[in-house]
Amino acid sequence: MAYGHYRRYTYLNRKMRLVFLGPPGIGKGTQAKIICHRFTIPHLSTGDMLRSAISAESDLGKKARTFMDRGNLVPDDVVLGMVEERLQKPDAHGGYLFDGFPRTLPQADGLNELLNRINQNLDIVLALEGDDDILIKRLSSRRTCESCGTITNLIFSPPREEGKCDECSGKLIQRNDDKPDVISERLKVYQRQTEPLITYYAEKDQLIRVNGVGTIKEVTARISKNLPDGES
Ligand code: AP5
Ligand code: MG
Repeated sequence: MAYGHYRRYTYLNRKMRLVFLGPPGIGKGTQAKIICHRFTIPHLSTGDMLRSAISAESDLGKKARTFMDRGNLVPDDVVLGMVEERLQKPDAHGGYLFDGFPRTLPQADGLNELLNRINQNLDIVLALEGDDDILIKRLSSRRTCESCGTITNLIFSPPREEGKCDECSGKLIQRNDDKPDVISERLKVYQRQTEPLITYYAEKDQLIRVNGVGTIKEVTARISKNLPDGES
């Protein structure tokens, strides 16, 4: 399967359209940043878009906050509308990487319909996988730079200076939904609402499963084996 994908994408003469699927804390955002930088495609994280809307105190942000703070999903129509608007921006006309979207069956159907309308298709849906104990450990020790968005970790990649981002010296903050009770709700929501997408995309022969446990470099190498430039 992986080799078939490798051969197919070696001959792509346009930028890739990818989805990163996987439970909270598996490393979607961390790996998406690396892959997007390598392929010069925009990183379309619905979680990041919603957090920006919350910071901007927009109507969308106010609505989203009530769901996100509890670890629940924002309604499908809100997310689909936001994604449709984002895909119209010029930087997304070539290729892109969706991180954390779609995450329900109606969102997957909605994306399908939207892509048909604009005559596009997804190339690969990559599912990162790992057990709950490692996810809980990574999430409870995650910190994010409030200035540049760099994701770091107090256990696995501690910052050189406490509380400060290695990239820009911005302040490192903990996400509101990285509190223990909210993490456990997010994991349940993932199993109930998002995991069915694994079968959905496997049946469409678009799915690649990748072990998300190991160092960041090891996981990047596993992902890279399934992308056009092959070996990492
Ligand atoms: P979202 O922001 O998408 O969060 P998530 O899916 O819960 O995933 P995370 O961002 O928590 O984890 P990640 O997989 O990106 O891991 P990361 O790379 O940060 O969504 C948040 C909320 O927004 C949702 O709960 C929902 O309310 C709403 N929402 C978003 N999209 C939606 C949608 N489509 N529909 C409806 N609602 C939506 O890594 C985690 C930590 O581990 C970091 O500290 C990192 O440094 C570390 N790490 C990463 N990889 C490794 C490694 N290999 N080894 C050691 N440490 C590692
Ligand atoms: Mg993320």
